[in-house]
Amino acid sequence: MTFSNTFFTKNQVQSNPTLIFPIITSRIYCLLNQLLKMKNRIIIPLGLSLIAVLGLSECQPAAKTELPELKPSEAINGFPTLEEYGKHLTLVSGCHDCHTPKKMGPNGPELDFELQLSGHPAALPLPEIDRAELEQKGVAATQTLTAWIGPWGITYAANLTPDDETGTGSWTEEQFSIALREGRYKGIKTARQLLPPMPWDMYSHMTDLETKAIFAYLKSIKPIDNLVPNAMPPSHAVN
Ligand code: HEC
Repeated sequence: MTFSNTFFTKNQVQSNPTLIFPIITSRIYCLLNQLLKMKNRIIIPLGLSLIAVLGLSECQPAAKTELPELKPSEAINGFPTLEEYGKHLTLVSGCHDCHTPKKMGPNGPELDFELQLSGHPAALPLPEIDRAELEQKGVAATQTLTAWIGPWGITYAANLTPDDETGTGSWTEEQFSIALREGRYKGIKTARQLLPPMPWDMYSHMTDLETKAIFAYLKSIKPIDNLVPNAMPPSHAVN
């Protein structure tokens, strides 16, 4: 009866009262050690040292669970590489909708993948509108859907390609995560909040793995030199 023997052995170990001893002693050790520290004493009695050996592990702070170091070449969540997973997330989270310029195709505006994720084209002018009136009445956008005029002023979708000067080429993974999940300009904690329509508050729910994957994908795409203009405050704030 191998099966019942195995079961019985396991069960015995789980309910073995002698195992409670080291647990209790380690708790006592922790308590005494704290008291000793508070009183600034240096000599720990020999008996306590013995208990310390038994219970030291109990006093360690809980290990922080961190993501394993991911290599871009490793398969992840059913995708062959981290970049492929990032490509998928970039598509389904709608990043292209605002960060990739559009061009006219047979069925209307379509994404211009030659310029993918390069943000608002620097040379493209804004629509000629009465900003003061519009800011009170609604929102306007360029035909590329990359620049937006609304009550918050004017915002231009950023260049997310890995260009060193005008894109995210010099960004760290941490900066990217702060920009995306905390909505901070250039991923600097003390910088201004990102403005509409960048939906960073939705992206604040992304996991570490998801932001890592998107960043890995952005690193892998073609760098495009495109200096996107700075955001502008609402017209009533400047007039
Ligand atoms: C609805 C439009 C929209 C969508 C969708 C969108 N963005 Fe943005 N994004 C913007 C705009 C506009 C800005 C500029 C905001 C500003 O200047 O305050 C911006 C800014 C950013 C910035 C900050 C750049 C900087 O220089 O600080 C990052 C990073 C970014 N977006 C990444 C993404 C990613 C990644 C996705 C998809 C997961 C995404 N965005 C989806 C419109 C959008």
